[in-house]
Amino acid sequence: MKKTIAVKVNGIERSAEVEPRTTLLELVRERFSLTGAKLGCDIQVCGACTVLLDGKAVSACSVLAVDADGGELLTIEGLAGEGGLHPLQRAFMEHGALQCGYCTPGFILTAKALLDEQPRPTDQEIRDYLAGNFCRCGCYREILQAVRSAAGR
Ligand code: FES
Ligand code: FES
Repeated sequence: MKKTIAVKVNGIERSAEVEPRTTLLELVRERFSLTGAKLGCDIQVCGACTVLLDGKAVSACSVLAVDADGGELLTIEGLAGEGGLHPLQRAFMEHGALQCGYCTPGFILTAKALLDEQPRPTDQEIRDYLAGNFCRCGCYREILQAVRSAAGR
């Protein structure tokens, strides 16, 4: 049976009628046309689908849309502010921390969750926090540099 859910998405109240099996990733990509979060593994392993739900990084492929009802969602499309790109977005560009870009929204949002929790993480803390995000292009060194730089180190 379908259910109508309400979610604040990138600061805007949205609602949608969803099936019990609809994933959060399907909701943002197919219903809200926010295609920054990507489908990779579909089993909560690669991090390509990462979004922030109530400030926490979650794998949207493995969260049901109904479980986000009443929640607050941030996708990569909502990260830049009126002043322009978020410091993490700028740092990823400046450090060349992407090639194809498929993994990039997930890495940036996971890194945002980290910096919100721990503004000055060590390299090991960055590596540990990003351990659930895979980059098939192998940009790990540059991603580490970018997060370090966004943290002001
Ligand atoms: S697609 Fe969700 S973790 Fe890989
Ligand atoms: S930049 Fe291509 S998968 Fe990471």
